[in-house]
Parts: sequence; structure tokens; C-alpha cells
Amino acid sequence: MILETFKNFSDFELLDSGLGYRLERWCAATLQRPDPQIIWQCSLPVEEWNKAWAIFESPSGSEKGRWEIKQALPHPWIVKFGEVQFQLKLSPFKHTGLFAEQAANWEWMLAKISNGKFQIPSDGSSASNSSSADGNNRVLKILNLFAYTGGTTMVLAKAGCQVTHVDASKPAITWANENHKLNNLPADSVRWILDDAVKFVKRELKRGAKYDGIIMDPPAFGHSPTGKTWKFNDDLPGLLSDCVELLSDDAKFLVVNGYATNSSALALNNLLEDSISSKHGKIEFGELCLKQKSGRLLSTGIFSRWSK
Ligand SMILES: C[S@@+](CC[C@H](N)C(=O)[O-])C[C@H]1O[C@@H](n2cnc3c(N)ncnc32)[C@H](O)[C@@H]1O
Repeated sequence: MILETFKNFSDFELLDSGLGYRLERWCAATLQRPDPQIIWQCSLPVEEWNKAWAIFESPSGSEKGRWEIKQALPHPWIVKFGEVQFQLKLSPFKHTGLFAEQAANWEWMLAKISNGKFQIPSDGSSASNSSSADGNNRVLKILNLFAYTGGTTMVLAKAGCQVTHVDASKPAITWANENHKLNNLPADSVRWILDDAVKFVKRELKRGAKYDGIIMDPPAFGHSPTGKTWKFNDDLPGLLSDCVELLSDDAKFLVVNGYATNSSALALNNLLEDSISSKHGKIEFGELCLKQKSGRLLSTGIFSRWSK
């Protein structure tokens, strides 16, 4: 069981957590956002918390609320992971359009697609210089399901992969497209699919499609573009076994994330072990965490991942 954190994402920092809130820095801007699991005390003094540029408030305690802006946020508000750029915006559901903890998976996948030779791009260096080719100059085909605003898509496309980006939300795909333009990526580096992940994968199976890597970050509950419900515990087993069939003979990885579910990392791992038993490789699992300045870890979700 791994407690996984990213190594190189200096534009993001979890400054502190306590009393139901996170204090985060995204470039220079600092945010206070609620996180109900945070039942412990703050490490930093209240004066540090009071410097936040924006605070999310939700009187009902629900996900939806409003941001109180104390200091104007940059516009556009761009953060970088190595040389990959993302545009942030405050959403009425307390989000910024990027899940910083995913940087740990990005670093892991970048290492896998280069057979461990990939050097994590330090800020200002070039991720795109490293080919995604696996030593044979083969462009790797990656499937990103529940792909949202394209954090993972941008990192892998910038590393030279051809990414199929699937999400059921039109606004999320529009935002991902903006990130794609921001990164000056070739038009054919990403295939945009507005669809239900389960249906799309079934269609790809019928077409005999193959992928060299698959990542998915499904919500606990979701909806297809036609309103069909996605339920993590009910729908993940079928989706995962279909995805295993989509892996090419030379596939490098399959990553499954979970957040806000009532599942555990162990449960996810047991499922992945069953689904991928026909393939040789290594499986690891754990919690995807953010490390705050004091060293304390904040769990943001669970993962299980296979690599060759
Ligand atoms: C929180 S996001 C995942 C975050 C993303 N992996 C990242 O790090 O940027 C979950 C996404 O799942 C999408 N979604 C929900 N149900 C879906 C479905 N049935 N098929 C495809 N996408 C779905 C939502 O639109 C949302 O963008």
C-alpha cells in the first residue's frame, strides 16, 4: 500500500489543512476550500489563513456554494507542470479545473512510457523533448476516460502520445480544448470524444481498437450525455474488464483512480487483480495524497495501477 505524492509541481502547494478546510497555493494565488475529511487542527496561524485570495463558502455544507474573492485572481490564471500549462478557473463546486494530486500519476505514467528513462521535467525544462516512443519510435496511443478538463491528456500529449480524451460533459471538453490550444499541441495529438465512457469503450472493443495505456478517474456518481447514470461500484467492474481487452500486447499501463467513493484502495486493487489476471506485470495500489508544508499527508482518493 503506497501513500503516493507528486515530486515536481512547484506551481501548486498545500500550505495547510485543518478544521474542515485546505489552504492551497496555485502559483501566487492562495485559496481556502472546504474538505469534509479534515477533522484535525491547522498547523499554520490564523494570520496565514487570512491571507487567502479567495474563500469558498457553502452555507448548506453542500458541494455547491460561492467564492468570496478577497484579492483579484490572475486572468488568465495559468499553472505549469514542467512546461505543460493549464488554465484555472473557480467553479461553483469549489474546484479550480485541475486536481493537483494527479501529478503523482503523471510522473508515474511518464516514467512508464519511457521505460523508466523519462526525467521528470523540472519547471522550465522541456517535457516535449522526451519522445513517448518506447525505444522503437512507436507513438503510444492512450485512452483517458472521465478526462474532465484534460490535465492528464495535456501531460501525455505534450510527451508525444496520441490521446483519446473521453468525457460526458461538453463544458469540460471545451475547457480541455482551451488547455490544448494553450499548449500549442498538434491538432491530431488528441481525439475528443463527448460520450459515455462505458458505451465508448464497448464501441472501441467492437472496432478492434487497441491502446498502449489507459487511465480513468471515474466519479462516485455521474451521468452520460444522454442522462444514463454512472455508479462507481456497479459500473466499474464491467468497464475495467472491457478496458483490459483494449490493451495492446505492448501496453505500458492501466491506472484506475477513485475519489469520493465508499470504496477502499484494497477493494480497487482486488478488482484490478481479477480483471487483469491474464496479463503479466506489476500491480500497485494506495492513496493519492497531497503533502502539506508541515509534512502531514492529505488523502485525496484511491488508486490501483498495473504496469508491464
Ligand atoms: C472529476 S473528473 C475526473 C478528473 C480528471 N481525471 C483530472 O484529473 O483532470 C470526473 C469526470 O467524469 C465525467 N463523467 C461523469 N460520468 C461520466 C460518464 N458516464 N462517461 C464519461 N464521463 C463521465 C465528468 O463529466 C467529469 O468531467
